[in-house]
Amino acid sequence: MKTTLSYANPAEVETECLAVVVVDQGEKDKPAPTVLGGNQAIQNAASELLASGEVSGKMFETVVIHRPAGLKTRRLLLVGGGKAKDFSSSELRKLAGTALRFLKPKQIRSLFFLPPEMLSGAADAVKAVVEGAYVGDFDADTYKSDRKDQRIEELTLLAPANAERPTLEKALAEARVVGESQNFTRELVNEPGNRMTPTALAERARKMVVDVNSPHLSIEVLGPERIRELKMGAFWSVAQGSDEPPQLIVMRYSPPGAPEKPVLGLVGKGITFDSGGISIKPADGMEKMKYDMAGGAAMLGAIRAIALLQPKVKVIGIVCATENMPSGKAQKPGDVQIAMTGKSIEIINTDAEGRLVLADGLAYARQLGATHLIDAATLTGAVVVALGGVNAGVFANNDDIYAHFERAEQRAGEKMWRMPLDDEYREQIRSGIADIKNSGGRYGGAVTAAMFLKEFVEDTPWIHLDIAGTAWTEENKSWIALGPSGIAVRSIVEFVKDMAK
Ligand code: BES
Ligand code: MN
Ligand code: ZN
Repeated sequence: MKTTLSYANPAEVETECLAVVVVDQGEKDKPAPTVLGGNQAIQNAASELLASGEVSGKMFETVVIHRPAGLKTRRLLLVGGGKAKDFSSSELRKLAGTALRFLKPKQIRSLFFLPPEMLSGAADAVKAVVEGAYVGDFDADTYKSDRKDQRIEELTLLAPANAERPTLEKALAEARVVGESQNFTRELVNEPGNRMTPTALAERARKMVVDVNSPHLSIEVLGPERIRELKMGAFWSVAQGSDEPPQLIVMRYSPPGAPEKPVLGLVGKGITFDSGGISIKPADGMEKMKYDMAGGAAMLGAIRAIALLQPKVKVIGIVCATENMPSGKAQKPGDVQIAMTGKSIEIINTDAEGRLVLADGLAYARQLGATHLIDAATLTGAVVVALGGVNAGVFANNDDIYAHFERAEQRAGEKMWRMPLDDEYREQIRSGIADIKNSGGRYGGAVTAAMFLKEFVEDTPWIHLDIAGTAWTEENKSWIALGPSGIAVRSIVEFVKDMAK
């Protein structure tokens, strides 16, 4: 998708379709739909339809006016944005996606979008529209022979006449990088387990680094021998049951002029298929466990965006990639494993494998010099029970890093909810024979999983994102296709941009 800015008069653009946002400025039971922004010609073109009562401006409503009077566009698309007082860049992001997904199957290939006037400024609106458009553009149709490759080829944003052009151009360029990176993540997550083995994931990571072509981004992939040499007993215990060799993907971004500290470590769970291992999962729904590498893929997408945006802060990216399989060589419940830090772990359930690979991944990030940590993982079914598909779970061992992250997730328009890490939960993962056990049972399952990770993070300020419920969108929505969502990429990028300030 080509994305550009135009400073033309909206009434004068000759295009297949011009999209504008309609919000409801009325009181309860008395809708007053109004076009947000644009000049008098745009308002006039929509006025008859808006006065008719046929359009309310409710969220995601889409109405097309053909050959609108007084405008040169062939179609005027009105996209509903809900109540005016609740309208923000999060809504706008979804409206851009909605407009794209509405037009895609209609053989329309180029779209002009009029970003509404926003309190948060024109740059913020541009960013939201472009990011939302990329989200909407993605379809998980790689393996459909009859896929139509319906793509919007050109998206042009109409900037207000009084706009500060360099600011808007910068917002557009950044949003394009972030949108493409999020979709890069989604492509990885969409791949099935037979095609996205740990080796294949490492290959994709290498290719990404080559494509980014930055002298400040490097990658190293450690195979089974190196993983064993590093004494990553927790990571290895998961990998040992699979015929596919595990891969530890290590990326380093060090831009010139970045201070020695802080160094942010990004650690992702890269289980390319989670069968549960010997504690095997039920057959029903097991096919979905190909997305158990979504945390790792999010880190790859985030690193891609960071290397292209070039914030002045050092970042290390680590993805622990392996399958979790049952076999004659697989670990068993009751086994005791020694993690890289030397902590002993009693394996209660081989299906609690994400925390095992992350334990060594987090410790390794610290060994490499990370002063701050973020991990992302499809870690627990319990977080899906707690928060469903709406919010990702966020855990933090430090209120200061959490405050920064919360602002980042808001700027990114990604919904997340903070979960607790009280010391009392530690009891649930106490082991009779080892330092810790890998399952705290059903109650508070998302919290005890995070408590397990905390043991390996110690005092390093740390954010843990449990994205099990949000990494896969269960159904088609107006702004996003069924399939991988690419959650966490945008928040992490915002966090890093803020860190570099
Ligand atoms: N990958 C799963 C968690 C998961 C569940 C992701 C549903 C996406 C959707 C994880 O490895 C797992 O199996 N967790 C167990 C832990 C339990 C055995 C302590 C779980 O949540 O049931
Ligand atoms: Mn599991
Ligand atoms: Zn898993």
